Amino acid sequence: MAVLDGIRAVTAYTLDLQPIGRRAQVKSGTTLLEGAQRSGVELVSVCGGAGLCGTCRVQQLEGDLTPVSADERAELSAAEIAAGWRLACQCEPLSDVKLYIPAESLSSAQRLQLEGAAAEIERDPVIRLVDVDLAPPSTEDLRADMQRLADHLGADYPASPAFMRQFAEAARTNDWSLRIAIRDGELIAALPRAQRALGLAVDIGTTGLAAYLIDLDTGVTLAKAGAMNPQIAYGEDVISRVAYASTHADGATVLQARLVTTLNDLVTTLCNQAGAQPQQVIEAVLVGNSAMHHLVVGLPVQQLGEAPYVPVTAAALEFPAAQIGLNIAPAAYVYLPPLIAGYVGADHVAMLLATGAPDADQTTLALDIGTNTEITLVAGGHCWSCSCASGPAFEGAHIKDGMRAAPGAVERIDLFDGKVMLKTIENKPPVGICGSGILDAVSVMVEHRLVNERGSLNAEHPLISERAFVLAPADPAAGTKAISVTRQDVNEIQLAKSAIRTGIDLLLEAAGVEASAIESFVIAGAFGSYINVESAVKIGMFPALPRERFTQVGNAAGMGACHLLLSHAQRQIAADLVARVNYIELTTVPAFQDRFIANLMLTPPSKGQT
Ligand code: FES
Repeated sequence: MAVLDGIRAVTAYTLDLQPIGRRAQVKSGTTLLEGAQRSGVELVSVCGGAGLCGTCRVQQLEGDLTPVSADERAELSAAEIAAGWRLACQCEPLSDVKLYIPAESLSSAQRLQLEGAAAEIERDPVIRLVDVDLAPPSTEDLRADMQRLADHLGADYPASPAFMRQFAEAARTNDWSLRIAIRDGELIAALPRAQRALGLAVDIGTTGLAAYLIDLDTGVTLAKAGAMNPQIAYGEDVISRVAYASTHADGATVLQARLVTTLNDLVTTLCNQAGAQPQQVIEAVLVGNSAMHHLVVGLPVQQLGEAPYVPVTAAALEFPAAQIGLNIAPAAYVYLPPLIAGYVGADHVAMLLATGAPDADQTTLALDIGTNTEITLVAGGHCWSCSCASGPAFEGAHIKDGMRAAPGAVERIDLFDGKVMLKTIENKPPVGICGSGILDAVSVMVEHRLVNERGSLNAEHPLISERAFVLAPADPAAGTKAISVTRQDVNEIQLAKSAIRTGIDLLLEAAGVEASAIESFVIAGAFGSYINVESAVKIGMFPALPRERFTQVGNAAGMGACHLLLSHAQRQIAADLVARVNYIELTTVPAFQDRFIANLMLTPPSKGQT
């Protein structure tokens, strides 16, 4: 768009900053560093933009930038430049541009949810640890290493060459005094006696990863770490990742490699926190939605993007970690729990396990809100599950001033005496609205009649200005722009809330249960942890139940992954659960369309509303 700035005609371009999910308008002649900073995304810039430190690296994903400068050639390798890496302080946009900003270039990271509530479980180790003191070889005792171990253990357990290599080296550097790990009758690790045996549990979210390092002897979590899912650079949601993998010859390989690189970085981070070595990690559990599950394993995903959306396999998987390049103990295994359906994945299974919902005596509804929202209803000993296409609006996408939950994002909105009250993450100057903020905003607009039930703005209302609800005016001194909610934003939230409420309604109908009969309403996931439940009820996204029936459990999927790491019994429960769930494909339910349209209304009309 050409605009007049003084006597120069300049052009405004859009910077799409991923994975933070922030979009910024910048004028030509503005460096990427300046543009990012003006939009509230703080990049590391140790040399202050002189092109000397290399800390402001970003990767160009789409669009055109000014040519690579001499300073960039000095700081970046030819391979990095070929892969699109640039110094944000040294280049300017020549078109709309999409950029990937790695975590190390961000001075303040996105808020990721690591904590979660979980029921207590009894440990039921998947791996048996046996301390051995072996007689070393001698001229009188020429037995092979593996025979020596088999004789000591009293059984000739099978082992891979990876185990044999590790065992032979570890035995000779530790005076033949070792901890041997046996998994389902297979030898999988030989550790020095003083070393702890560790397990890795990771919830692979479409947006973020949450990883946990656990002492397998004690069940204690030694370290936790989060990271953005690096695949965001190739698409914000599952559908666009599946499309990328399906339309590029090496698409799935690239997505898998980026994900595994981040998993390995997390292993390093966790081990550094715990004072341990990656070779001590002898079992890993990975949970994720079906697309993340398939991509990390290297299974094709194209069929997940096409009706009827079936996975290649829904069974639990276990295989050597080395097969996917996970840098843990060389003969360690990876376990992935079973899936319920193409869009109700292993992360939902893990969440249900952690909350104990499948065996609850109460009528329980458990859901995890994301671009796809998975919902399970447990009633009378039976389970029903579905997935709703709730879209990325609650992650700030398709919202004019939307962003993911990062410092400066408006996360709470209220109205007192006609004045708008905002709370931002880390109390930074407001730079955009994250999901909980936009939910609050729409709730306030409904309550104070800034919108009608169809989502049309009330132009007569004093808080509506230039066809938007202005939350924060521009503040030139603080360098922030105006933040407002438009009718289009409200409509995006209507679509999201209707998708979720329709899923809830249709599960209740399948079970023959009224909404008012839900005794426990469990909200899991990063977004669900921060939302104002009252706002969700006011716009009709959730049934109007007494507040005490709602529980926000944080990253329960991550907690479920930890349980699956520590307990064979939990793995069996997961298999049993998947076998007894009634999966409902919502789009095949005759009432779906009518119910979806009815639920678009901001005055909740849904069946069972109390
Ligand atoms: Fe130092 Fe860009 S800020 S190279």
